[in-house]
Amino acid sequence: MRTHHLAVIGGDGIGPDVTAAALDGVHAAADRFGFEVRTTDVGLGAEHYLATGVAIDEESVARLREHDAILLGAVGDPRVPPGILERGLIVALRVAFGQSVNIRPVRLYPGVMSPVAGVTPENCDLVIVRENTEGLYTGSGSTAHAGTPDAVAFQNSITTVPATTAAVEFAFRLASARRKRLTLCHKKNILVHAGQLWQDVVDEVGARYPDVEHDYVHADAMCLHLPLDPGRFDVVVTDNLFGDIISDLGATVQGGLGVAASANHNPTGSAPSMFEPVHGSAPDIAGTGWANPVAAALSAALCLAVLGEREAALALEAAVGAVLAELPAMAGPAMGADTAEIGRRIAERVGDVDPGKIGDPDLSLMTALARLAPLSG
Ligand code: NAI
Ligand code: MG
Repeated sequence: MRTHHLAVIGGDGIGPDVTAAALDGVHAAADRFGFEVRTTDVGLGAEHYLATGVAIDEESVARLREHDAILLGAVGDPRVPPGILERGLIVALRVAFGQSVNIRPVRLYPGVMSPVAGVTPENCDLVIVRENTEGLYTGSGSTAHAGTPDAVAFQNSITTVPATTAAVEFAFRLASARRKRLTLCHKKNILVHAGQLWQDVVDEVGARYPDVEHDYVHADAMCLHLPLDPGRFDVVVTDNLFGDIISDLGATVQGGLGVAASANHNPTGSAPSMFEPVHGSAPDIAGTGWANPVAAALSAALCLAVLGEREAALALEAAVGAVLAELPAMAGPAMGADTAEIGRRIAERVGDVDPGKIGDPDLSLMTALARLAPLSG
């Protein structure tokens, strides 16, 4: 039997609850499609940091590396200064495991209300591929005359051909397996150096994918077009900063943090990819049991797809879609079911759901990712 080994970092706040609920769906999918999922709980997050003084050590990195994939809930705790866990753990793992692209699906599932009028399941199904390691987010910089009225901060933005090519190449492969449209999002009229490098790489890689049309949209204009006309986009490839911003906009368009999933992906398969909901640890509702586990469950579906389990990923996605259609609200007691109950319902639906119910399975991101996945087992 095929076996996939998953490392599970529940993390802080609502992280462990939503991850446990998502795993119910994963195990149900494994049962239905005849493979095995073995999980290892890895105790990282605020408690680990408060006990040891480090967000993650070499030994934990080595342990995580032995797994086929990592499921992460969320990290962040009011007792720990901001950034220590988010940067110290998540960014450290992105770098250590070569997770060079961040995949953010923006899909409106039937039964979910977009806050934007006119956005429907028929016109809202795009994927943002964000370069995950460079741009303004490397932390490189300095401050001159710090703490004085003359202080000057330098925050360097770094754009290299290899990292840009990795993101663009992956985005073209994905577009080629989907609706064959790619949009570069940048600000090349102002950020002329980085912008030109991105455009050159898109033109060069694009020449090898004649089946995929590509165009260009400025990042600010993207903030107009994405909510008003999401149907014009299939795969959007962009740099780290713009990707961070437009994917939060995408999360809103698709119904909010309760449904926004993501993957920190190593396209070469040389180290595990990491799958996590876009939301954080939500300390304001931690412990109430009312966190929505759908974003975590959809992230787990992305994980199954990347592991090559196409049918299981499609079934988990469709089961989530079926349960979403029954929920009267996206968060809190008004959802009508708590975190664990939603996890149980998703798992139940995974057993017999028809993936065609929520749209053409061949056009699902799950299918495209599974096609790009090396067969593992
Ligand atoms: P957040 O995403 O945790 O929460 C924002 C708001 O959305 C809160 O009102 C929360 O209750 C609600 N919310 C989030 N997820 C929900 C869910 N699944 N169901 C129902 N409601 C949900 O963002 P916030 O408050 O800015 O950050 C809290 C902590 O999480 C901070 O320490 C932050 O640094 C960290 N964080 C960690 C991330 C990660 O682990 N990747 C990502 C974002 C934030
Ligand atoms: Mg963000």
